[in-house]
Amino acid sequence: MKIFLTGASGLLGSAFAQAASQRSHEVLGITGSYSAPLEGLSVQKSVDLSDLAAVEANVLETFPDAIVNCAALSTPYQCERSPELSKRINVDLPEKLALLAKHLFARFIHVSTDQVFDGKNPPYRVDDPVSPTSLYGSHKAESEERSLKFAAEFASIVRIPLLSGNSPRGNRSVHEQLLGSLSEGKRPALFVDEFRQPCSTENIATALVELCERNDFRGILHWAGKERLSRFQIGEQLLDHFGLPCSLIEKAQLSGNPRFSQRPPDLTLEMNPLAGQLKTQPAAFKEHLDSLIIPNPCRDWYHSF
Ligand SMILES: NC(=O)c1ccc[n+]([C@@H]2O[C@H](COP(=O)([O-])OP(=O)(O)OC[C@H]3O[C@@H](n4cnc5c(N)ncnc54)[C@H](OP(=O)(O)O)[C@@H]3O)[C@@H](O)[C@H]2O)c1
Repeated sequence: MKIFLTGASGLLGSAFAQAASQRSHEVLGITGSYSAPLEGLSVQKSVDLSDLAAVEANVLETFPDAIVNCAALSTPYQCERSPELSKRINVDLPEKLALLAKHLFARFIHVSTDQVFDGKNPPYRVDDPVSPTSLYGSHKAESEERSLKFAAEFASIVRIPLLSGNSPRGNRSVHEQLLGSLSEGKRPALFVDEFRQPCSTENIATALVELCERNDFRGILHWAGKERLSRFQIGEQLLDHFGLPCSLIEKAQLSGNPRFSQRPPDLTLEMNPLAGQLKTQPAAFKEHLDSLIIPNPCRDWYHSF
């Protein structure tokens, strides 16, 4: 299968490229500013995805069987700082890709987020009404609506949780950010009452490849890790895995803290209708800790600790 992949240099996109190439798919990967060679791509090309005419030209030139959209302005902070760019990349781009998928009769896999919910009424089912608390969440919710509107018969829109894995830049995933803060001499305060279902990029990437190969799961879908963990528990497991003392982090309370009133407290996702239907199985956080590497920017600090 020929796959047009956006966000190939991102945390999830880079894992998807590797998973798809292991299944012998041909992946054309689009990057933005990242220029080092990436594994798993048959072609690697830098394209400004805010230029929708360039997106169209590249998709039509590739004529793919599937379009997988892992590109995003992927943090609430980035979106608040650049709202117009967020609209362009997080809403207009998926709409354009949905239209192109429909035009080509191609599968369209669009990655969304648990942050379309406010975290006050978990667990969330695929048909629960969205309730975003950030511009990031609102734009992702709008992207879901547009993808369904323009390519309902071709699109799988997969909401995913907090990701764990190794990113090409070494600064995107949960362990990379934790070690990054520690190496700068900070003592991160992690919430004991903010819950997520962390999932490895390898696990999600394998599930997304399966979805490219199948046509029977369309519409909004949920995929996440097997367990619900607090931010503090995630931090504890990571420190333990890397042989670092738990005293490096401290406990914090989300509830009653006005500074963080917009943060969703519990984004647990219910995984039906995908649960039990894919060869890929949801995994526990501990199961993939061995695949995590110390990111380059933290190596000196870690080895001198
Ligand atoms: N990370 C998480 O914990 C998490 C949780 C839930 C949902 N998600 C969703 O999962 C998907 C993937 O997230 P991620 O964490 O892998 O994102 P990421 O690591 O921040 O990667 C974003 C990707 O988008 C590309 N990109 C952004 N703007 C671009 C532009 N103007 N032109 C070309 N490329 C551009 C970046 O390219 P360059 O870096 O080369 O510029 C990069 O490849 C997103 O839809 C996100 O909303 C992520």
